[in-house]
Amino acid sequence: MEKLGCKKQWHLVFWCLVLVLPLFLIAECSVTERTRWNPASTSEQLRSFPPVKLHGRHDTHVVLDNGLVKLTLGNPGGMLTSIEYNGMDNILEHRNKETDRGYWDVIWSEPGEHGHGNILSGLHGTSFQVIGEDDNQIEVSFSRRWNPSDNNSTVPLNSDKRYILKRGCPGFYTYTILERLEGWRDINLPAVRLAFKLQGSRFHYMALSDDRQRTMASPEDRRAGKVLGYKEAVLLPDSVNPAIKGVDDKYQYSCDNKDNRVHGWISSDPQVGFWVITPSYEYRSAGPVKQELTSHTGPTSLAVFISGHYSGKDLNVFFRDGEPWKKVFGPVFVYLNSGSGGDNHQTLWQDAKEQMLVETQSWPYNFPLSKDFPHAHQRGTVSGRLMVRDRYISRELIPARSAYVGLAPPGELGSWQKDTKGYQFWNQTDDEGNFLIRGVRAGNYNLYAWVDGVIGDYKYETDIQITPGSEIRLADLVYHPPRNGPTLWEIGIPDRSAAEFFVPDPDPKLKTRLSRSNSDKFRQYGLWARYTDLYPDQDLVYTIGSSNYKKDWFFAHVNRRANDIYEPTTWQIIFHLGNIEYTGTYTLRIALASANGAHVKVWMNRDPNTTRRLFSTSLVGRDNAIARHGIHGLYWLYSVDIPASYLQSGRNTMFLQQSSPSSPFSGVMYDYLRLEGPPRSS
Ligand SMILES: *[C@@H]1O[C@H](CO)[C@@H](O)[C@H](O)[C@H]1NC(C)=O
Ligand SMILES: *[C@@H]1O[C@H](CO)[C@@H](O)[C@H](O)[C@H]1NC(C)=O
Ligand SMILES: *[C@@H]1O[C@H](CO)[C@@H](O)[C@H](O)[C@H]1NC(C)=O
Ligand SMILES: *[C@@H]1O[C@H](CO)[C@@H](O)[C@H](O)[C@H]1NC(C)=O
Repeated sequence: MEKLGCKKQWHLVFWCLVLVLPLFLIAECSVTERTRWNPASTSEQLRSFPPVKLHGRHDTHVVLDNGLVKLTLGNPGGMLTSIEYNGMDNILEHRNKETDRGYWDVIWSEPGEHGHGNILSGLHGTSFQVIGEDDNQIEVSFSRRWNPSDNNSTVPLNSDKRYILKRGCPGFYTYTILERLEGWRDINLPAVRLAFKLQGSRFHYMALSDDRQRTMASPEDRRAGKVLGYKEAVLLPDSVNPAIKGVDDKYQYSCDNKDNRVHGWISSDPQVGFWVITPSYEYRSAGPVKQELTSHTGPTSLAVFISGHYSGKDLNVFFRDGEPWKKVFGPVFVYLNSGSGGDNHQTLWQDAKEQMLVETQSWPYNFPLSKDFPHAHQRGTVSGRLMVRDRYISRELIPARSAYVGLAPPGELGSWQKDTKGYQFWNQTDDEGNFLIRGVRAGNYNLYAWVDGVIGDYKYETDIQITPGSEIRLADLVYHPPRNGPTLWEIGIPDRSAAEFFVPDPDPKLKTRLSRSNSDKFRQYGLWARYTDLYPDQDLVYTIGSSNYKKDWFFAHVNRRANDIYEPTTWQIIFHLGNIEYTGTYTLRIALASANGAHVKVWMNRDPNTTRRLFSTSLVGRDNAIARHGIHGLYWLYSVDIPASYLQSGRNTMFLQQSSPSSPFSGVMYDYLRLEGPPRSS
């Protein structure tokens, strides 16, 4: 574009001011009219609101009240018995027991075979304490100390449950500190959660993303339904409202940690939204792609911090040899909003999403009073740039675009996906591969990464020590992904998910309208059984060059149902090769997005019925993602050497068998497969 003369520019500036300035003023007005809660508000800005008050510190219940929200908590147990807001005297289900409305809990067990199985502990406080109290903020604590002389029926953990009510805030913050001292009894800790059971007669509409929102079944609808393949999945009776029809299963509303930022419920009368906002996943286990439950029929809203969902027992926390531990879970923000008249689902949802952004930008919070929760100035940052070196793709370094880069406890390549004890800090790179990770707690970490479109895991070789206020700028990092030779063929996209493959339509009787646009077909119930319908007697055959993985590669390698048993299935990949380099070694890469009680075996140009396999995984995986409608669980990568003598010029057939027939849910989801030729010199 031609450069404007000086005169013309001034002209432009003038009109800009005349035309655009009023728009800014109008925008400014509407923002001030509808004041949005901001946790960073100064006391000056909050002066127009009534001060926060605490009542009943010596009674059976403590009440925190800021004129907008009134919280009642059992004293000293620390269970939320009521949340009063906008004329609703209890958002929580008052018909439930006082300990079953709003609470933190853990599931624990004794290690070893003589253990007593899983035990639920509500972390009942034994001591109430006011941590901080002024006109602008009250923070209270309900704590419990374990005594090594306690009998074995109490969980060997100290717990300190905190609730914070701030002046002018339509909601509250809560976090919990769990601690074990050196030498305490060994346990497994499979779950740490925060749960809210909302008033069933009011909350019917649930939302967890722009698309994933709908009117939900009631517990009565569930009770009238038919339990399907496992107890969580129920086929609702035909009598329900047609919009609800189909299957109800809480796992259909799971979400990756990276996306699990705001979810909740809306009541139409009065119009009130209840939202669980998670401003950071630093305190959830296992990093950005660990899936957890969100909200589900109940009406229930959860914040899950530790669980074996989509991962299996590997993600229990195991304490052995009296290992000490301390971790802060939260703060989580419970946000309440209200509307007036009309169908306000979208208004309340949009508002909750905007509030989530405000909370995320305010992270790390500077107001929790526990010394175990470091504020922003006590944390550090790490920045750098990640590049990929793959000479079979490019001579140049390739910027790692939209890669996930994170700090997690020191460990092996990819160990973050199983880490449950520490904190993790992740962010994504920009188009040039630059990344910035803010708000990292002091400590010793490894830096890990993985790149969309590239197989494998990256780990930076030296430990990274974060001290309060440190700003570490790393030199350019270069990831050398697994690669021996040129790509001869590939199937799928290496992105730790099977979503790009063929996901069948559900059985019409089970079809459920799970979201507004019916996206995420993989969340439908019963898709594993469609394999038998589509391939009743012959298994999948995929021909490189003519098949299309979006249409011809079934998203999960599962068993075939034959009467009442499940049989192994053997898929074929047919491909043509030119001249074989008989002195070379070829490489097969198999990346799995999920594995559940699976045993994958590979043959190359040999009969799987009569010859020994060329490669076999062991019996792998317990992530249960097939049954739970996740399109991924834990990530696995196998590299298999294929001696040239197994291959031939012309047509080749590779057999892929999933040979563990135990159940409909045994199998794998492939993320990506690739055959590489022998290395090329230069
Ligand atoms: C263990 O202790 C709890 C609380 O102190 C008590 O209620 C319970 O009866 C005890 N159990 C046994 C087996 O002693
Ligand atoms: C309590 O647990 C310890 C260690 O797990 C075990 O040695 C002991 O026998 C248990 N005591 C009782 C009374 O069960
Ligand atoms: C993530 O990166 C973006 C872009 O550099 C930055 O604005 C944001 O503050 C970062 N967030 C965290 C939590 O580090
Ligand atoms: C292996 O045996 C099964 C069952 O008898 C048969 O259906 C299949 O065609 C055989 N596979 C090959 C490659 O011969």
